Amino acid sequence: MIILNTCAALNDWRETHSLKSIGFAPTMGALHEGHLSLCERAKADNDIVIASIFVNPTQFAPHEDFDSYPRTLEADAKKLEQIGVDAIWAPTPEIMYPEGFKTTVHVDGMTQILEGAFRPTHFDGVTTVVAKLFGQVRPTRAYFGEKDYQQLQVIQRMTKDLNINVDVIGCPIVRDAQGLALSSRNAYLSDAEIEIARRLNQILKGAKERFEVDSITQLEKELKRAILDAGFDKVDYVAIRNASSLMPIENASEAMRILVAATINKTRLIDNMPL
Ligand code: PAJ
Repeated sequence: MIILNTCAALNDWRETHSLKSIGFAPTMGALHEGHLSLCERAKADNDIVIASIFVNPTQFAPHEDFDSYPRTLEADAKKLEQIGVDAIWAPTPEIMYPEGFKTTVHVDGMTQILEGAFRPTHFDGVTTVVAKLFGQVRPTRAYFGEKDYQQLQVIQRMTKDLNINVDVIGCPIVRDAQGLALSSRNAYLSDAEIEIARRLNQILKGAKERFEVDSITQLEKELKRAILDAGFDKVDYVAIRNASSLMPIENASEAMRILVAATINKTRLIDNMPL
């Protein structure tokens, strides 16, 4: 496995593999089984696999955890090598945002709701960096987790709108044995808080069972109550939405997704599942 730190090295590597299919998993590092599952799927579908590791400053708001976000490149590289990833693209902030950088990729509408309502600059940071990563790596297929379900929908929209020739593939959420969605931010939780976090998935599963009998707004309200009762300090949203547009449901035949963001102490967790 090779670690690439400059555009020149990445371009040379890319040139060497110009005739092969390239699977790409963009990440911010602090890798866990969720990230590795994207690389494994990429390996199964493509001739070679590259993962990127870049903690992207522009998708964090000033009050968010950019400074404290875990940075564990050495351990990450070991994990990626073990599962047979061929290369890591690890650019510096200067490569991604050189002096004079002036471009923002903005997807309208879908980025202003749910996560976007609470993190108004977040998705511009994500789409801009992912557009850059796609331009640098020029993958055949790119793999994103359903863990960040709205991000996946936004990236699919951007790729389609800009005719970017990359097949964007969504991969299932990897959870621990108790159902907690793996996340680099789980590292911020104490043992007691992990116990609370694990209840979130149980509550969402319960919603699936009760969906037939309750109206959507009523069910969303009940879920919010249940999440607070489980020990969360704040619920940003619990929403049942159209699974691809993420807009409110208009008729019962639509594919639906239930999405949630809630905070324990200072740690904000997101989760979602199909309904
Ligand atoms: P990051 O949070 O590191 O996540 C990288 C990828 O791993 C995302 O596609 C995310 O959905 C996926 N992932 C995280 N936890 C997962 C889990 N439990 N199961 C399955 N997939 C999981 O998402 C980002 O980084 C950034 O926004 C990025 C796309 C790299 C742009 O900076």
